[in-house]
Amino acid sequence: MSRPTGSELMEKLVALCKRRGFVFPASEIYGGINGFWDYGPLGVQLKNRLRDRWWRDMVECPPLGPDGHPLSIVGIDSSIIQNPKAWVASGHVGGFSDPMVDCRETKARYRADHLHVLNHETGERFAFVEGEVEVALKRAKKVLKRSVSEEDFESGLLVDLAEEELEMIWAPGAKERGTLTPPREFNLMFSTTVGATGGDDNVAYLRPETAQGIFLNYKNVVDTSRVRIPFGIAQVGKAFRNEVTPRNYIFRSREFEQMEMEWFCHPDEAAKWFEFWSEQRLAWWRSLGIQADNLVLREHDQDELAHYAKTGEGTVDVEYRYPFTDPAFGELEGVAHRGSFDLEQHQEHSKVKLQYFDPQTQERFVPHVIEPASGLTRGVLVILCEAYDVDESRPSPEIMRIPKSLAPIQAAIFPLVAKEGMPDIAEKLYLELRREFVVQMDVKQSIGKRYARMDEAGTPYCFTIDGQTVEDQTVTVRDRDTGDQQRVALDSVAEFLRAGLAS
Ligand code: GAP
Repeated sequence: MSRPTGSELMEKLVALCKRRGFVFPASEIYGGINGFWDYGPLGVQLKNRLRDRWWRDMVECPPLGPDGHPLSIVGIDSSIIQNPKAWVASGHVGGFSDPMVDCRETKARYRADHLHVLNHETGERFAFVEGEVEVALKRAKKVLKRSVSEEDFESGLLVDLAEEELEMIWAPGAKERGTLTPPREFNLMFSTTVGATGGDDNVAYLRPETAQGIFLNYKNVVDTSRVRIPFGIAQVGKAFRNEVTPRNYIFRSREFEQMEMEWFCHPDEAAKWFEFWSEQRLAWWRSLGIQADNLVLREHDQDELAHYAKTGEGTVDVEYRYPFTDPAFGELEGVAHRGSFDLEQHQEHSKVKLQYFDPQTQERFVPHVIEPASGLTRGVLVILCEAYDVDESRPSPEIMRIPKSLAPIQAAIFPLVAKEGMPDIAEKLYLELRREFVVQMDVKQSIGKRYARMDEAGTPYCFTIDGQTVEDQTVTVRDRDTGDQQRVALDSVAEFLRAGLAS
């Protein structure tokens, strides 16, 4: 069996992630809850490592700018719940919605812009869910008694259809035509009430993006830190969207994590910074070891732009070739030119001045903002998809080739047998390494089974203590990716590991 692709790859990956403790369905013992996922012991390690890498490269050691000077970016951690007026000002109460259609017959609910519509000569139209083109083609062929090409599909057409045209649509799985309701706008924000008396006046929202917490603290940061324009404010944290159709595993969920940075600059320099950050972010994802041809930069069309990006100069997405979009690509990160939209809005609604005063030029202005916004949990999905591999020459062929620096478990230590002094040496090595690395000691089962467990967890190195160790103080180290083994001195294992994990 070679490495599977498409839906087969997703099935195998989801099963492995469940079996090994990367990702579990939330509330599984109660039958789960659509759009919510829990991260298990390996998953949370991987997620935290990706988050820490982003934080390091964004806040602690940001890149050099186009002129070779170090950039200045600070971090914050804002509340998930803010004053609801903030979400009115940001445009989310009025405009953060998706068009939604229901099928009266099957009771399924779809995002109207995620339904493909098949157009053919007789005027009959079929709707199919995004990502199910293969199924759609088969069904269309059966009904029309002729083959249909992918070019016959028009994406998102449903949004623009008149009601009489909707009457001619066969919805996915429906037995008769015309069961889809006209699209309705559906606000994606989760609401809650604050305080014990919680009436309509106490409604508050769970943040749908981490970005607004940054805009709300713009003045505080400028007043308390030594930042000078251009500079950035970064934040990592949970965001919540009541997605109409959460799907594709952790790709689109209702609770997820974002890694966002707002780059405040002079309006005249915004175009330069937009280009700079677009290229930087693509290069960053590549630097994690994601294959270059699985990543692209794609500019948004005018009709795709989010409400906040309309006043800016556009949005570029870093896209990845997911197994469920293959051969096409899907969003991983957006780099948006938000212009002065957010600060102007908050200035107007709060009546607090959010201008910047440049002491050198004596100029006062509302900065423009370039925003690289990525999904942390979506990034985890990309790392998992990219890592999954099959090597038939191994007794247990599934391997997670997670970038070594992001691996949840960094090394395993195996005494070959539980006798002849080997467990004691293993224990001593384990106690030394655990001070600096995430290591696991495993004494059970055959050595082949122990290697297989670690291959599935993505552990880069396994050190085995054997008969020779007792004699010459060397251990065998097996490399996850090649399966090659070599001997290294016991007292240089830490150094070996340090170098290997950094590579
Ligand atoms: N502040 C801008 C903003 O939130 P976005 O394109 O809506 O822009 C940024 O979101 C990133 O957050 C996306 O590129 C994606 O990686 C991630 N994201 C958005 N919605 C998501 C969802 N429902 N589930 C998982 N990740 C999501």
